Amino acid sequence: MVGFQEILSIIRQRIEEIPYPEQPHRLYRPIAYLLALKGKKIRPALTLLACNLFKEDINEAVDMALAWEIFHNFTLMHDDVMDKADIRRGQPTVHKKWDENTAILSGDSMLILSYKYLAKSPGHHLPELLDLFSTTAAEICEGQEYDMQFENRLDVTEAEYLNMIRLKTAVMLGACLKSGAILGDADVKDRNLLYDFGLNLGIAFQIQDDILDVYGDPAVFGKKIGGDILCNKKTYLLVTALNTENRQEKDELLRWLKTSTPEEKKIEAVTLLYNKLSVKEKARDKMEDYYQKAIESLNGVNVPDEKKAVLKNLAEELMNRKS
Ligand code: IPE
Ligand code: IPE
Ligand code: MG
Ligand code: MG
Ligand code: MG
Repeated sequence: MVGFQEILSIIRQRIEEIPYPEQPHRLYRPIAYLLALKGKKIRPALTLLACNLFKEDINEAVDMALAWEIFHNFTLMHDDVMDKADIRRGQPTVHKKWDENTAILSGDSMLILSYKYLAKSPGHHLPELLDLFSTTAAEICEGQEYDMQFENRLDVTEAEYLNMIRLKTAVMLGACLKSGAILGDADVKDRNLLYDFGLNLGIAFQIQDDILDVYGDPAVFGKKIGGDILCNKKTYLLVTALNTENRQEKDELLRWLKTSTPEEKKIEAVTLLYNKLSVKEKARDKMEDYYQKAIESLNGVNVPDEKKAVLKNLAEELMNRKS
């Protein structure tokens, strides 16, 4: 087994070694900038850990792992434009440090770079990996589209919300694990169980992200606290709050959703309403449900428990993350 820290250092080193063309600086510097910021690197780690369940030598999965991390960072570069976010991993976002056109084009270039790394994977697995990668990428676009559409709706149901986060966030975690299982020559049943593990973990992960966006510690979260509130994002917290039977609180919430300034007042008032309606606790319960589902799928994977311990620990740590 390869230890978790060793896996992280392989990923970090390979990211540092990515060769960029000399010119044009303005296209390539933002890519290197975003990739060098301190992210958790959970997606490439999931690929390598899944491969390692079935194979001692994980070398053949490293390019695939890199492809996921580059692709993930591409989605963040564009997501920050769409979400008007100024801070990412505690630093200015690319469209703030440079400009929006730079973020669009450097993002496009990153998407292409991710395919270049994917293409280095062993040839006999390539058709399946390409299909998984492209299907997942298309689903993420669908999720991001719903995420934006929902900003302008007040009647988003919990089921619609869960489908949106499945697409924008969870399918990638599932696919990262499945690609590692494919490269580890796992059988179809185990590939799919690992996908389900990632899918359910990803749903819990996004609900956690929604919670941290309101209740995170600004010193460690790395993004602006209250960013979702300012965009009227239909997070688990907001969808649940809008479902309240309490007329007075609902009307007050609806009034704030029509208001965009003063920003800090809006964040404070909506947070207060969330507190009154105990939506954070409800979100934690929902997260826990999906985490349990994730663990059930992992338990079904046909390898000894001690091999699965690293993935189990990672999942547990993610449920208590602060950033
Ligand atoms: C951010 O993902 C996007 C979401 C799906 C919430 P991460 O929280 O994994 O971001 P980094 O890569 O660690 O910064
Ligand atoms: C993440 O959604 C989904 C993607 C980036 C595809 P968020 O918009 O919640 O992610 P953060 O909070 O900006 O990291
Ligand atoms: Mg977003
Ligand atoms: Mg965002
Ligand atoms: Mg978020």
